[in-house]
Amino acid sequence: MSFMQRHLQSLDDFTKDELVGFIDRAILLKKESAAGVSHQQLAGKIVGLIFEKPSTRTRVSFESAMYGLGGQVIFLSGRDTQLARSEPLKDMARVMARYVDGIVVRTYGQEVVAELAEYSAVPVINALTDLHHPCQILSDIMTVVEKKDAIEDVKVAWIGDGNNMANSWIQAAGRIGFELILACPENYDPDPAILASAQKEAVKPIVVTRSPQEAVAEADVINTDVWASMGQEDEQQERLAIFKPLQINAELMAMAPADAIVLHCLPAHREEEITEEILESERCVAFDQAENKMHMHKAILEQLLKG
Ligand code: CP
Ligand code: NVA
Repeated sequence: MSFMQRHLQSLDDFTKDELVGFIDRAILLKKESAAGVSHQQLAGKIVGLIFEKPSTRTRVSFESAMYGLGGQVIFLSGRDTQLARSEPLKDMARVMARYVDGIVVRTYGQEVVAELAEYSAVPVINALTDLHHPCQILSDIMTVVEKKDAIEDVKVAWIGDGNNMANSWIQAAGRIGFELILACPENYDPDPAILASAQKEAVKPIVVTRSPQEAVAEADVINTDVWASMGQEDEQQERLAIFKPLQINAELMAMAPADAIVLHCLPAHREEEITEEILESERCVAFDQAENKMHMHKAILEQLLKG
């Protein structure tokens, strides 16, 4: 029987039990790190990071996670590789797989991740594309579990662009089984195929509305993200006007349950998608989310690289 290499291209690649397993494991690794336990599970292993878009959190947390498990990393910015000079992805994948034990990639098209995965003999992990940000959503759900004890009984609201983050939340809601309501402006809906597929699988409602007030009314978790993602900088001005009614501010938060928490994957544009007041308030758990990326990346790397 041939060995099927596992990759993390999107959350769709894993079962509910596996996704919950990542979250439980990350919470345990976090506790063990706090207790001073030394981890060496990935001693002797090397991960290659290929980043074609900027990153602070994802890059540093993946590198820190790898070192924290006894492994090492090689970072390549897209422009410094032969990819920038049109070397085929299938060649890059096969060459990299002979040097490293895993590839973490941040890029534009989801098809780049798919092609690397097709040709790579080592795991390929999606660290953000235009379509998905799966590792971020796992860290965010870990944060929700820490704050609200569980995810299944929680109602999550997404306020803003139907972007990569929204698409990965939709896949998570469908697979894990929690309620999700997305408030997006017309023409900025999430990917229709991802939405339809998740709705088919879902045991709880996944709905899109135009009303941020409706979305937050019964939400336990309120989530937002920048209005113009990386690669959409030219649309920034146009989007500011369209998205203005979706700002997370005191007025909108007054319509949410008093114990609703606010999530933001960062970086944040203060006074655009979220006010300084809310971002810096106790209700906002953005910095816990940022920390949890490192613990979650340990859980993902450990699982995928253990061979
Ligand atoms: N949240 C997140 O992915 O941040 P970076 O772009 O800094 O990696
Ligand atoms: N949607 C944002 C997420 C950044 C972490 C982007 O793609 O730029």
